Amino acid sequence: MATSRARFLKQRYGGYFHRDLPSEDAELTHVGPGTPGGEYLRRFWQPVCFSDDLKDVPLKVRMLGEDLVAYRDRRSRVGLLELHCPHRGTSLEFGLVGEDGIRCCYHGWLFGADGLILETPGEPADSTFKGKLWHGAYPVHEYGGVVFAYMGPPQKKPPFPVYDTFVRPGWRMIPGRKYFYPCNWLQMHENHMDPAHTAFLHTIVSGAVFTEEFGVLPELDFLETPAGMIYVATRRVGDNVWARMVETLLPNLSQVAPIWETGRNECEFSGPMMSRWTMPLDDTHTMFLEFRHVSEKDGETPAWWADRNIMLPGQLAADSYEEGQLHPGDYEAQVSQRPIAIHGLEHLGVTDRGITMFRRQIRRGIRAVANGEDPPGLVRNGGGAIPTYCNNTIVRQPKAETEVLDKAMMREIGKNLAKGYLKSPPLSNGH
Ligand code: FES
Ligand SMILES: [Fe+2]
Repeated sequence: MATSRARFLKQRYGGYFHRDLPSEDAELTHVGPGTPGGEYLRRFWQPVCFSDDLKDVPLKVRMLGEDLVAYRDRRSRVGLLELHCPHRGTSLEFGLVGEDGIRCCYHGWLFGADGLILETPGEPADSTFKGKLWHGAYPVHEYGGVVFAYMGPPQKKPPFPVYDTFVRPGWRMIPGRKYFYPCNWLQMHENHMDPAHTAFLHTIVSGAVFTEEFGVLPELDFLETPAGMIYVATRRVGDNVWARMVETLLPNLSQVAPIWETGRNECEFSGPMMSRWTMPLDDTHTMFLEFRHVSEKDGETPAWWADRNIMLPGQLAADSYEEGQLHPGDYEAQVSQRPIAIHGLEHLGVTDRGITMFRRQIRRGIRAVANGEDPPGLVRNGGGAIPTYCNNTIVRQPKAETEVLDKAMMREIGKNLAKGYLKSPPLSNGH
C-alpha cells in the first residue's frame, strides 16, 4: 500500500499540528509467522549463526519472530528446533547435546535433527510419542562456515543459492562477524542502496571512516539486476573516474565494494569485499552476518580484513551515548529512525531513488508469494553460480570542459560500465 507522505508544514512553530504518528508499513516490515513479509522472507535460505558458534552447548536463536535452538550433535549433524520442549515447555537451550540429538534437561526427552522424538524416558515402552511424532524442526545447510535454515513451506524449498562471488577463483571466502541492531531489518537493508549517506555520515560527520575520496557526493544511478539491484556512484578523482557499484540481492543479502578504494589507480571490476545478510530476528531486532572476500594476490586485500577480530568501521554502536552523539555511525543513524521506521512520515528526495526502487522490489516479492508464485530473486534452476555485479571500477578519463559536462560524462561512464557488466557478468565468465 502506498502511504501518503506527511506534508511539510506551511507555518512557523507548527509542532502542534504535526503530532499524529501514522503506523509503519506492516506489509513491508513485519516478519512474524503468517505475515506477508514473513512468509516472503521464509522462501529463502536464511543465516542462523556461524558453524563455530555451535560447540558443546546448544545456542538459543530467534529468527523471523520464532524462538529456536540450534545445536550440533556428536556426529556433527546440525539441528534447528523449536526452542520449547513439546513435553512441558522447558527451553532446549538447557538441553544436553548427545550422539544423535538434543535431550531436554527436565525429563530427558530426546529429539533428532529432523524433530523426531527418539526417546521419552519415564513413558511406558509402548508410548505413542516415541519414534512416531516430531517436534518442530527446520532443514539446515552449512556453507562456508555459516549455518543456514529454510523456514518456509517444505514443498517450496529452493536449492541453496551459490552466487558467483562465493566461488571466485583466486579468492577465499571467510566467515566474518555477526552483530545486532535493535530495529527493523528493512531500514538497515535499504541503507545499502543509500550512497548519499557515505559522503555525509561516513566522511563529513565522523571524519573519513573509509577513504577521503568518499567525501564527494557522487553522481548516482540505480539499476535493477536479475536478482536484485545495484547503485552506481561515480566520482572524479584527478584524471580518473571511479564507478562504485553496491548491490542488494533479494531479499536480504547485500554485497559491498571495497571501502579502501581511493580511485587513484585504474582498476577493472574489483568484485565485493563482503557479502552480508540483514537477518530479521523479529520486527525490531536484526542481525548482520557477513562473509568476507579475501584475495589470494598479495596486497589486493588489506591484511586486517582477513582478521575476524577486526570490525568493519562505522558499524557498531558507539561506546557510550556521549560518544555516539559526537561520532554517530550507521548504528546511531539507523536505530534512531525508530524501532520500525515510519514511511508515512518521510520526505524522500532525489538521492532516495534507490530506497524507493528497493522497497518496490520487496513489495513485488511479497505479493508474488501471497499470490502463490515464486518471488523474484529466488533461483531454482541450479545452473551454476548466480551472477552478481558489485564492484569498484576506475578508468582514466580526464575532466570535461565544464563541471556540468563532466558530471554528465561521469554518469554516462558509470551507466555504461554497469550495463556492460549486466550483459556479461565478469565473475560468471571466468574473470
Ligand atoms: S519438559 Fe522437556 S522432557 Fe519434560
Ligand atoms: Fe553506512
